[in-house]
Amino acid sequence: MSNSPLNKAVVDAKIKELRISDVGKASIREIVALVNLVEEETGVKYIRMEMGVPGLPPAQVGVDAEIEALKKGVASSYPIIDGIKPLKEQAALFVKNFMNVEVSAKSCIPTVGSMQGTFSAFLAAGFVDKKKDTALFIDPGFPVQKQQMMVLGLKYETFDVFGFRGEKLRVKLEEFLSKGNINSIIYSNPNNPAWICFDEGELQIIGELANKYDAIVMEDLAYFGMDFRRDFSKPGVPPYQPSVAKYTNNYVLFISSSKIFSYAGQRCGLMVISDELYIREYPDLQKRFESPTFGTTIVLRLLYSISSGTSHSAQWALAAMLEAANSGKFNFVEEVKAYGEKAKVMKKLFVENGFEIVYKTDLGDPIADGFYFTLSYPGMTGNQLVENLLYYGISAIALDNTGSEEEGIRACVSFVQTQQFGELENRLRLFNAEFQVK
Ligand SMILES: Cc1ncc(COP(=O)(O)O)c(C=O)c1O
Repeated sequence: MSNSPLNKAVVDAKIKELRISDVGKASIREIVALVNLVEEETGVKYIRMEMGVPGLPPAQVGVDAEIEALKKGVASSYPIIDGIKPLKEQAALFVKNFMNVEVSAKSCIPTVGSMQGTFSAFLAAGFVDKKKDTALFIDPGFPVQKQQMMVLGLKYETFDVFGFRGEKLRVKLEEFLSKGNINSIIYSNPNNPAWICFDEGELQIIGELANKYDAIVMEDLAYFGMDFRRDFSKPGVPPYQPSVAKYTNNYVLFISSSKIFSYAGQRCGLMVISDELYIREYPDLQKRFESPTFGTTIVLRLLYSISSGTSHSAQWALAAMLEAANSGKFNFVEEVKAYGEKAKVMKKLFVENGFEIVYKTDLGDPIADGFYFTLSYPGMTGNQLVENLLYYGISAIALDNTGSEEEGIRACVSFVQTQQFGELENRLRLFNAEFQVK
């Protein structure tokens, strides 16, 4: 590593200081801590691709509404656990306008970020049926959800969807579901980290199998509308954000405000339970949580116990942002398109310097340019690539953190500044010059 822009000894010392045993396997937060230390010591700014933070200013309409709500004094009163009425109504309208899915306001519930939504939904799903004690993740996925399963002490199985797109997905899913122990199927769409997007055919397969095997589909829409190959931005006008909700009523949707409204800091997302699932009675669940239905278990047992609702002022912010989107005043897709533009340039720089895109296509079409993409470098494992790039001032996480069976890394574009593209190109040239012959 004769030409690396960073002193290897400094990076190694910081790895030691943080007691990271294998830096290639480090978690997102470990990489964040390491890079912060190295930047502080060396003054060299990294090209930071490890963490999925928004990187754009928050939607102003949300900020204004939240300030207004605070001025009115909402901070002093506990919010209603299942959400303030205007938020619930705007959420149901949003689902109708941008997904063409009917759901009642009652079934739209604010949560402390999608993180709390998945935490409580995983917990409920884990107890719906004594015989079904295992969740199934369609990977690659968002690593923290596996941590949630670990914290909850719940079982899960996973498979990498890389080789199972289209009709092959049916065969693979049935392999797991036919064993009879699966209570839920979990995935994100667009996918974190691969940015693959399931098409209607694949969502139909998931929905049909959820009905056949009575499994709850947990559809994580953290990147709602962000498959920029199509325009999902017009309320009430097709095309709509594709969803499994078209094919089954056995679903929970998670709509995060963190990326579409750049509102991550206020920790206010939405969980949307189908009306049918909300009122469904599961005898085992009733025994475990002493609550009549799936919906009441989530709201009055789990959300009540965990946080007693979601920040009151942030709910007003989210209600206002949804209202602005619903009325066509605020085009939330246009606001975040900058991510796609950055991804396009960054992918090109990497590919020109010997890298390859790992998850390259959606059933034959090139994947969209969005919030994340995946990369490999010939002859290197994903873990080696994470480690080697760190010496070249580029940080990312390895794909094996995400349940992928492919060798590579996840690159997140949000934190990388366009002014850094020149520096990124320089560092990639140096990297490629060092490693291409080996
Ligand atoms: C797929 C996925 N789900 C959920 C989240 C977390 O969302 P929130 O900030 O609403 O808790 C993220 C954040 O990066 C994500 O990528």
